[in-house]
Amino acid sequence: MQSLSNKKVLLGITGGIAAYKSAELVRLLIKAGAEVRVVMTPSAQKFVQPLTYQALSGHRVYLDLFDAEAESAMDHIELARWCDLLLVAPASADFLGKMNAGYADNLLLTLCLASPQPVAVAPAMNQQMFANPATQENIKQLAAKQVLLWGPASGEQACGDVGLGRMLEAQQLFDNVLLHFSPGKLAGVKLLLTAGPTREAIDPVRYISNRSSGKMGYALAAAAIEQGASVTLVSGPVALPAPAGADLIAVESAQQMYDAVMQRAPASDVFIACAAVSDYRVDQAANQKIKKSSDSLSLKLVLNADILATVSALAPRPFCVGFAAETQDVEKYALGKLQQKKLDMIAANQVGDGNSGFETDFNQLEVFWRDGRHSIGHASKAEVANQLIELIAERYTCARSRQAQQT
Ligand code: C5P
Repeated sequence: MQSLSNKKVLLGITGGIAAYKSAELVRLLIKAGAEVRVVMTPSAQKFVQPLTYQALSGHRVYLDLFDAEAESAMDHIELARWCDLLLVAPASADFLGKMNAGYADNLLLTLCLASPQPVAVAPAMNQQMFANPATQENIKQLAAKQVLLWGPASGEQACGDVGLGRMLEAQQLFDNVLLHFSPGKLAGVKLLLTAGPTREAIDPVRYISNRSSGKMGYALAAAAIEQGASVTLVSGPVALPAPAGADLIAVESAQQMYDAVMQRAPASDVFIACAAVSDYRVDQAANQKIKKSSDSLSLKLVLNADILATVSALAPRPFCVGFAAETQDVEKYALGKLQQKKLDMIAANQVGDGNSGFETDFNQLEVFWRDGRHSIGHASKAEVANQLIELIAERYTCARSRQAQQT
């Protein structure tokens, strides 16, 4: 999950039935680490109780321009300067008209006038009111004054009408806030990533695993968050701290990794399979610790499902990036996997020479896609991850615009 820590959002609520949706918005903002203060106009209080927002934001709700108590806590000029973003959601037709005309006869309007920070509005009203030339003119003029317009959406309205005027959903407004604060190359992109090794149980105390440290996958997660992506990291057992801002799902076996990925892949835009998934698992793991009883022990291994190939066979599917860690013929095997697993991109590295790949802090990659290739030279995994994420962002954007042209 992408972080909004250190971001201060002042949420203004005006009178409209959509006011209840903003409660969910406050919850999402707080969950992402933002500090939220809420201001309500007098008519907003007719739709939702200030106490709701007080409970969700953890702060007193600002209601009145001439509230002695509120003034002593933070006066309106201070409040206008305090925030990094002032978002009015819902913004009624009346409020937009007054805001455009420069009125300041309630606290929220005063804050809009006094705020040196960006102001965004999420219009919410009946479709006829939205279509009215007066509203349209107000909106046009507000946009010319650099006010950010988020929405409205089209659809069924509380009054029974159908048309343009619905407030955007809380999740869409939240995504806009994220985008506003992090216009990176992957802003708004939902990126799913696997990392680390898997453990295949032999019995309750023993397992089969591999030398993957998870460092490359964790570096990729951090680089993607830096570029504004919303990252879910499905990780096998590693000795690394969770990358700040990632939604970390800890798993052990290949089957658990498969289940965690398949649950999330359909809603993801990009999937990067960086994990060193065990190809085989023990057919019947013992329930009790296996005793030393004879000179030899045979274990029957069965093939695990290929997570990456399964995701790339989904329709629609995310942009799929695979890894190929090889000890020889890197290019040949990588190109083979690109085709077999029908990937959008594959990043190949030579492992086993001690200078890069498994267990080290360094790596180097040969990256291939259907009609191109790119070398990322020997560097720290953090640097290699930055370059690979840039390349993925570039190729993903190309693929998306190609797709849009075809539809
Ligand atoms: O076929 P191979 O295991 O070499 O392919 C490596 C790529 O496939 C890596 O991206 C790895 O994360 C992914 N993979 C997977 N599920 C498996 C095996 C590999 O997602 N069961």
